Amino acid sequence: MALYSEKVMDHFRNPRNVGVIENASGVGEVGNAKCGDIMTMYLQIENDIIVDVKFETFGCGSAIASSSMATELIKGKPISEALQLTNKAVAEALDGLPAHKLHCSVLAEEAIKSALRDYYDKNGIAYDASLFPAEHCCEDCH
Ligand code: FES
Repeated sequence: MALYSEKVMDHFRNPRNVGVIENASGVGEVGNAKCGDIMTMYLQIENDIIVDVKFETFGCGSAIASSSMATELIKGKPISEALQLTNKAVAEALDGLPAHKLHCSVLAEEAIKSALRDYYDKNGIAYDASLFPAEHCCEDCH
């Protein structure tokens, strides 16, 4: 079996929603201390709906594929659904990632959460801090 699924290769070669949103409603930047990869998520939010999302990832192929898939999964969705997105769901949507690459999908989940928290902070919206656990990229980095 190939190490990477066709979906991973597709999203790596043709990532969706790459770029920057100027004056985004929320921006989240996270990094993996271990590998040095960095991911930034930009969200445009209107009436609690994520109407647009873009990302920039300076990192490995799995991180690029994960961020691309994650943007597809939350685009057009309400904030409440985006908050539920787990790295597991991202990896499953990609038809799986090799075990040693699962932490790359964690980066996508955290970048989205970080951007949502930025949106809440910018707009003075109260939120449950437990929705945003301390940022970490993976078990290895604790
Ligand atoms: Fe760094 Fe994948 S190896 S995020």
